[in-house]
Amino acid sequence: MAKLAVNGGPQAITRPLGRPWPEFGEPEEKALMEVLHSRKWWRGAYEKAEDSWVGRFENAFARFQDCTYGIAVTNGTQAIECALKSIGIKPGDEVICPACTFVATATAVILVNAIPIIVDIEPDYYQIDPDAVEAAITPRTAGIIPVHYGGYPADMDRINAIAERHGLFVIEDACHAHGSQWKGKGCGSLGDMGAFSLQMGKTLTAGEGGIVTTNDRELAEKAYSFHHIGRLSGRPFYEHHVVASNLRMTEWQGAIAYEQTKRLPEQTERREANAKYFEAGLREIPGVAPIERRPEVTRWGFYFYHFKFQSEQFEGLSLDRFREAMAAEGLAISSGHLHPIQKNPLFTNRNFGPVCWPAGVDAPDYSKIETPVADRVLAEEGCCLSHNIFLGDRSDMDLMLDAIRKVRENVAELL
Ligand SMILES: Cc1ncc(COP(=O)(O)O)c(C=O)c1O
Repeated sequence: MAKLAVNGGPQAITRPLGRPWPEFGEPEEKALMEVLHSRKWWRGAYEKAEDSWVGRFENAFARFQDCTYGIAVTNGTQAIECALKSIGIKPGDEVICPACTFVATATAVILVNAIPIIVDIEPDYYQIDPDAVEAAITPRTAGIIPVHYGGYPADMDRINAIAERHGLFVIEDACHAHGSQWKGKGCGSLGDMGAFSLQMGKTLTAGEGGIVTTNDRELAEKAYSFHHIGRLSGRPFYEHHVVASNLRMTEWQGAIAYEQTKRLPEQTERREANAKYFEAGLREIPGVAPIERRPEVTRWGFYFYHFKFQSEQFEGLSLDRFREAMAAEGLAISSGHLHPIQKNPLFTNRNFGPVCWPAGVDAPDYSKIETPVADRVLAEEGCCLSHNIFLGDRSDMDLMLDAIRKVRENVAELL
């Protein structure tokens, strides 16, 4: 008789895990009703912008990430674009990004007429490889966008040192890293600027939304202007200083984001405590392993929890087959992203839209960019679990571990 659910056996997990996402309650309901009745549905209706819900969110979230300034925007993609414009990106500049990320890290670069240079990741931690960054630097390189992939901080010491040596900017794509810390400092405060997403799956959400962070007043003022049709704070409303779009967050989002920011410390702490327990359990099961925590990673506010599947210890079972068996047991494990970003048709077919690069400057042939570590991690090794599972309790962790153990013990059924 089959033991594994994929072969008709009983399921290991028969109840929902974690807590439903997103979380909300009376504070969010009250805040939304307050916005409604105030008739102030955008922050401009407030005499002092910092009194608005958006303003309060900016201050609270920036503080939580150890940043002096926060500029709330429409989404994470435009947060990256806004940061790039604020830092003075020029047409044809090269910006180095990792292969393992959501495509917006790199498309935001193209949208400001610069050129993403895509490099491989580190095999141990799945973050942008500083050696690959260094090897990709050319006279046209203007900056680096390390992504804290899954929320695990990239090696910011080495990235910042490389940037300093070569005179480059660093914009952290912190869209997965709400609550994450490197050596006790919040992600988004470690480079020149940071960009967060508040899209619904993220660990801080307003349905959609984003926020640009920085500790530099001048950059904060530029970001403010670029998110506000080129206005400057303190200047007349119809005076515009740069060509810029409207990236403003609504008060509805501001109200939700502010209330959600208050939930973030408890959620981050709970996820991390559960993850540490889960990690200890993973170490006991042959064929799976946690991503080890570097001592510099003082808090991992993960968007997805990453662990490693080791096919050779699963009698050569493929990652896809493992995930299929786990899904049948009641645990959805994703691969994170489908493939390294440069394998997307937009890169392989060079569908860049109306880019404006200086004469003689062109993007690389992305079909020739090889990122063997990212290829292997995404196809053969990386297992991602949704962050909301880790809002549950130890029994949720035990159920997941039991299910993995069950598949390992009965792997013969899958071969
Ligand atoms: C790493 C990364 N960067 C940027 C973005 C873009 O954020 P948004 O969807 O809010 O535009 C995302 C969104 O998933 C992301 O995962």
